[in-house]
Amino acid sequence: MLATLSRLPKDSILGLAALARADERSNKIDLTVGVYMDDNGLCPVMRAVQEAQQQLVQAEVSKAYLPPQGDPTFVAEMPKLVLGAGHRALVETRTATIQTPGGCGALRIASEVLAVANPSAKVWLPNPTWPVHEPLLGSVGLKFARYDYYDYATHSLNFERMMQDLQGVKAGDAVLLHGCCHNPCGADLNAEQWQIVADLLLERGAIPLIDIAYQGLGDDLEHDALGVRMLASQLPEVLIAASCSKNLGLYRERTGATIFVTQSAEHAETALSQALGAARRLYSMPPAHGAILAGKVLADAHLNAMWQQELQSMTQRIQGLRNQLSVALTAATDCDFSFVAQEKGMFSFLGLTPAQVLQLREEQAVYMLDSSRINVAGLKDATVEPLAQAIAGVLR
Ligand SMILES: Cc1ncc(COP(=O)(O)O)c(C=O)c1O
Repeated sequence: MLATLSRLPKDSILGLAALARADERSNKIDLTVGVYMDDNGLCPVMRAVQEAQQQLVQAEVSKAYLPPQGDPTFVAEMPKLVLGAGHRALVETRTATIQTPGGCGALRIASEVLAVANPSAKVWLPNPTWPVHEPLLGSVGLKFARYDYYDYATHSLNFERMMQDLQGVKAGDAVLLHGCCHNPCGADLNAEQWQIVADLLLERGAIPLIDIAYQGLGDDLEHDALGVRMLASQLPEVLIAASCSKNLGLYRERTGATIFVTQSAEHAETALSQALGAARRLYSMPPAHGAILAGKVLADAHLNAMWQQELQSMTQRIQGLRNQLSVALTAATDCDFSFVAQEKGMFSFLGLTPAQVLQLREEQAVYMLDSSRINVAGLKDATVEPLAQAIAGVLR
């Protein structure tokens, strides 16, 4: 029977990352996968996470299952992190949170519940978006519509087109929004634009599905959550998929949460029961290690302060690299790359053609996605200028 299967193509990002890893040229610059790297090219275990891990190793006496909803401390802390501790939805106990295997698991649980609530819901995805959104949500059976988001010509958000497209949203639809640090383009909504989106969703009776995978890596933990907090205070219902992969550096520990903001405490309980049902049929029990660490870091004042300090220094490093790259590219190419400094988070489209991207890979050992999306956090101080020169070479 298995002999009848046809082979799927490799995931393009992971395939490219493998190609980059195998490249032994000493001048290699790998900007493919969305993982934060320090200036030594290492994706570090954050200090607060290390300390929490030592505490855990010393105190852990059992590997029995966690409760199906997840580690209680983690589940209590995550909505406070995302929504802010005094948020009215929390005060009014109109939220429910379930721990999930990473942000991917959070998106999947959110979409499972959405599909039960409204099987004919259309999910509006930004164009472009993170390529995994479609398979993650689509395999639940949800249908998609697209809204234009990014203008490749001006290297910026095309808010006018976005709102034109969103005029097609109907009651019961869901609109996927990147909470901050849009992947792949780095162009985010400002407060005024979030408000316009909130007004439209309220008027239409549509629900936002907010994917927040980079909280803290754009400006800071508070500012990056501005949109999600605004929508959660103005709309009766919000679905939130949060990830601890990037801001706590817990990538491989698969740590995330789905947060349901609902109209009442009773609706929150009902949504949670559906989420637990979905988790039970998908993977039964949540993984423990990452969520216990994240819970400790978030709940303990000393670890939390240590974590926030390190996170802020990572964010400043990314912003510093953006500024350096913007200056170096503009100087080397005579083109305006100031947009690189204005975007948020780890990603940017450099505006190169697939042929130029291929040339960079083959001739200069520079790896980026075919779309010319780079992970800015994959750069080092020492590789900014060589990258700018390599790009200038292919643009000449
Ligand atoms: C936009 C976006 N959403 C969600 C995720 C999910 O991340 P994870 O499942 O590793 O927590 C990612 C990871 O790259 C992402 O870029």
